[in-house]
Amino acid sequence: MKLRSGLLGLLLAAVSVVAVAQQPIIIKFSHVVASDTPKGKAADRFKQLAEERTKGRVKVEVYPNSQLYKDKEEMEALQLGAVQMLAPSLAKFGPLGVKEFEVFDLPYIFPDKDVLRRVEEGPVGLGLLKKLEGRGIKGLAYWDNGFKVMSANKPLKKPEDVKGLKMRIQSSKVLEAQMRALGAIPQVLAFSETYQALQTGVVDGTENPPSNLYTQKMHEVQKYITVTNHGYLGYAVIVNKKFWESLPADIRDALESAMKDATRYANVIALQENEQAMEKIKASGKSEIYVPTDAEKAAWRKALLPVHKEMEDRVGKETIQAVYKEAAALGHK
Ligand code: LMR
Repeated sequence: MKLRSGLLGLLLAAVSVVAVAQQPIIIKFSHVVASDTPKGKAADRFKQLAEERTKGRVKVEVYPNSQLYKDKEEMEALQLGAVQMLAPSLAKFGPLGVKEFEVFDLPYIFPDKDVLRRVEEGPVGLGLLKKLEGRGIKGLAYWDNGFKVMSANKPLKKPEDVKGLKMRIQSSKVLEAQMRALGAIPQVLAFSETYQALQTGVVDGTENPPSNLYTQKMHEVQKYITVTNHGYLGYAVIVNKKFWESLPADIRDALESAMKDATRYANVIALQENEQAMEKIKASGKSEIYVPTDAEKAAWRKALLPVHKEMEDRVGKETIQAVYKEAAALGHK
């Protein structure tokens, strides 16, 4: 009798070990935008590729639209291991202590996306991701969104039109300096709180790529949108470093391959997503879209370019110079 119960116990233990070994590794991927945005679609594509290429040994649970965590909370949750993956805006790494990421927030620093890509894939971009590792974070990739427009409930044709307005920004000292250079009052708010703050008048206006404005219905509470394209918004895809290093090597390889293709996909769809969002905003008739004249564009640049010098100490003069060098290498003055 004893022998039989001993054998039964061994059998049950063996079955439970096999069962545990077969349970998928869970990656909780939390983000703050709608699913039908460049980042939302890229996260879903990563899920699909990661589950396919690990043959189901990894399950990615995507939590969009601040469902699980909103801005500031998500970074803390990642460091605690409560979630495994995020793709925060590059404007949100200052509070983590890696303020050099705010070089990406400098107005007009990227003449086009070719320069941006060279910076991300070169020593500046790779060096910034490396800096995260001391904070328990592994940077995997950069995902694109796009150039930002300005919005408010009054026409913003010239830089001085922003004077005195309360403007919502992301948690970036460079973006604070940008708004102050226009005489505006910067207000850092979580992305998930922005629509309501615009609707209730807590803030007067904001900036974002069209895909974020449209998918959060901000155009319904912003009468005027100016196509300034004055600054860039993109993402760093990051994981909890301890979790990442604990993965079996073959799983990590499969996830890196999935991330590579999801990144390619993100950077292909981003421009089209923003163009389509702008068309939908126009079609809604809720916001008046204004494209500044060449003279007005020059005035916006003149008002905002001094932010580079002002922020040298924060983001690093050498970092800024390195970006200028990449632009010059592609023939930009
Ligand atoms: C914002 O807070 O405006 C953006 O960072 C949201 C996002 O993730 O695109």
